[in-house]
Amino acid sequence: MGDGGVTGSIVSIKDVARHAGVSVGTVSNVLNHPDIVSESTRTRVRRTIRELGFVRNEQARQLKAGASKTIAYVVLDAGNPFFTDVASGIEEIAEAAGLGVYICNSRQDPAREARYLDLLGEQRVHGVLLTPLSSKDDRLQSLPKRGIPLILVDRHSDAGEHCSVSVDDVLGGKLAVAHLLEGGHRRIAFVGGPSDLGQVKDRLAGARLAIEEAGDGGELQLVSTTSLDLDEGRLAAGRILGMPGPSRVTAAFCANDLLALGLLQEITARNVRVPEELAIVGYDDIYFAGAAVIPLSSVRQPRHQLGRTAAELLLEEAELGVDHEHRHVQFDPELVVRASSNWRSL
Ligand code: RIB
Repeated sequence: MGDGGVTGSIVSIKDVARHAGVSVGTVSNVLNHPDIVSESTRTRVRRTIRELGFVRNEQARQLKAGASKTIAYVVLDAGNPFFTDVASGIEEIAEAAGLGVYICNSRQDPAREARYLDLLGEQRVHGVLLTPLSSKDDRLQSLPKRGIPLILVDRHSDAGEHCSVSVDDVLGGKLAVAHLLEGGHRRIAFVGGPSDLGQVKDRLAGARLAIEEAGDGGELQLVSTTSLDLDEGRLAAGRILGMPGPSRVTAAFCANDLLALGLLQEITARNVRVPEELAIVGYDDIYFAGAAVIPLSSVRQPRHQLGRTAAELLLEEAELGVDHEHRHVQFDPELVVRASSNWRSL
């Protein structure tokens, strides 16, 4: 996208970025959200804009101005505080840019997810953030083809076809199971599903890595679930208690905190002592993990930061259009040890 310039050639936002020694996204932020850019960088970029005679393509912006002043976040489960925590970060950036936020709940249903993506395309929303059922779904291309940015949240695009933000879930799974192995557990349950969900696959892969790297006889027993919610966690308790005595697990790593809290509630209701007879670790570190009657150990995801970063990527792509370059931002998880697995507190 070009704009009139001093030399007669079209000075693009890429030219400004190159001359100022910053990313195209930073130039966009100086133009649209100067408050999130350091003063020294703002000054350098603005000086470069003047020197090159860069002029924003106001006509394109005015065309875009006709677009909706809202963005949408399509979540897998609106009942999971993980998503509302991410949404609070999205809102913070969106409101600063004068945009509203729709929250849409796919309920892990591909048909609902598809309907929402079609509806949001018809609504000409400013952009869409999505925690997808699959990051390889061709339908994810439908919105960008209509000029509506689509950013993946909590997943990444293998082919680099979208901007995305996520956490290293393989590392997260490894941290959780390494902690349980360090506590002396050798028979460990992995509670999670559906197995084709990327987050579940990566966390399981990390759990397996921890077992392999420890090489001290640990074994993982899969307790598959149909979704990542409290009810499935409660059902997992019955599956664990149904294991034959000698082979029953002494610890469980759950693919998210709702599963872990459901397991914790049901297993303690059946008079199993936690962590003495069953240590439990969850994933996300939602507020209720620390507030549980036996505080839950969990792998913390920086949920608010995930949302802020995803929204910033969306605004940049919406502003830059074809000048935008997709990128993936990955955060590291952190293990938070609490009473539900802390053998040292016994
Ligand atoms: O996004 C799928 C799952 O991963 C959610 O349930 C949330 O807990 C995250 O950890």
